[in-house]
Amino acid sequence: MKWITRTAATLGAITLLVLGTTAATPAATQTNQGTHHSPQIEKDVFGTTPDGTRIDRYTLTNGRGMRVRIITYGGIIQSIETPDRHGRTANIALGFGSLDDYLTKNSPYFGCIVGRYANRIAKGRFTLDGVNYQLAVNNGENHLHGGNVGFDKRVWRAREVREPGAVGLRLTYVSPAGEENYPGTLSAAVTYRLTVHNEIRVDYHATTDAPTIVNLTNHTYFNLAGEGTGTIYDHKLMLNASRYTPVDSTLIPTGSLDPVAGTPMDFRHPTAIGARIRDNFQQLLFGQGYDHNFVLDRRDDTSLALAARVSDPASGRTVTMRTKEPGIQFYSGNFLDGTLVGTGGHIYRQGDGFALETQHFPDSPNHPSFPSTVLRPGEVYQTATVYQFGTTH
Ligand code: BGC
Repeated sequence: MKWITRTAATLGAITLLVLGTTAATPAATQTNQGTHHSPQIEKDVFGTTPDGTRIDRYTLTNGRGMRVRIITYGGIIQSIETPDRHGRTANIALGFGSLDDYLTKNSPYFGCIVGRYANRIAKGRFTLDGVNYQLAVNNGENHLHGGNVGFDKRVWRAREVREPGAVGLRLTYVSPAGEENYPGTLSAAVTYRLTVHNEIRVDYHATTDAPTIVNLTNHTYFNLAGEGTGTIYDHKLMLNASRYTPVDSTLIPTGSLDPVAGTPMDFRHPTAIGARIRDNFQQLLFGQGYDHNFVLDRRDDTSLALAARVSDPASGRTVTMRTKEPGIQFYSGNFLDGTLVGTGGHIYRQGDGFALETQHFPDSPNHPSFPSTVLRPGEVYQTATVYQFGTTH
């Protein structure tokens, strides 16, 4: 199987990568940018669900100006604070300030872990080993982001991770067989790490006791100027993708991999997100903007390959993404409609954030030519995405 690797083969690679980022870090070191402290992780109570489950919030700091907050509900990254080119900090992740809002405001998947299957499955149907499955139809006629109660609405068990050069949170969730009509008990683990290199690294791991499908991602919406400050149309985006998967009017891939060349889908060179978003191009009409899976140009199936780079000319903030996944969903916040009030008290309108969701292609179970999303007993689903934050002048 092309994209699913076995534990023994990948554990060595993971260990190497971890060692690579764990150069000994003294408790506090002096640099020309001031005093650096070691990464810290703290926990507080974010709220309680109606059934009495306590939701914790973990605050991760890296001693280099970054602070990331993660809650156990949905494994949601609630905020990401990073400095701009002048060292001024802002929260660049869209989200809510209270648990109540996440529970009641119909969050458009702000910051969460998406599963079991990120993005769409046509009409909620797929066949595996000759058995037909019908999943919830929760997005027009299609299944989206794991169904009515996906991984974004589950409470994850958390364990703190402390390593030289990083702090993290290992979140686990066991999805019972039949949950949302998916077959097999899926044991999922998602580990977030914040490193001293201003990276958020996300490692995904899953096993099953019966054949199933799996496609996990994180759904953070970014605005590098700060959440609630307006649209992201001036942000410059580079996508390392020569092809994308065009969709029908319900946003289901047609099955072809079309070249981006000569179309508004071409982000191989950094281009403002808004530069062509109003072009009369059928795919942009279907998505009401960008809402497409891009096929990443990669040399192999397993390494962390460059996927995307975004920069905000105003603040100078940048984010570079690397992933082991074959695709990335670029969503330009088209369905934000001014009905939600974000963490900082501002209303989110269309285009006020973008998401870049590393993933297997949408509707893969119905497209045998796409990389497989099938996971079988004895196999280990293992993938990773790294977000590196920085600034330019
Ligand atoms: C989908 C969009 C959807 C958004 C929020 C994206 O991954 O592609 O169509 O509106 O998530 O649910």
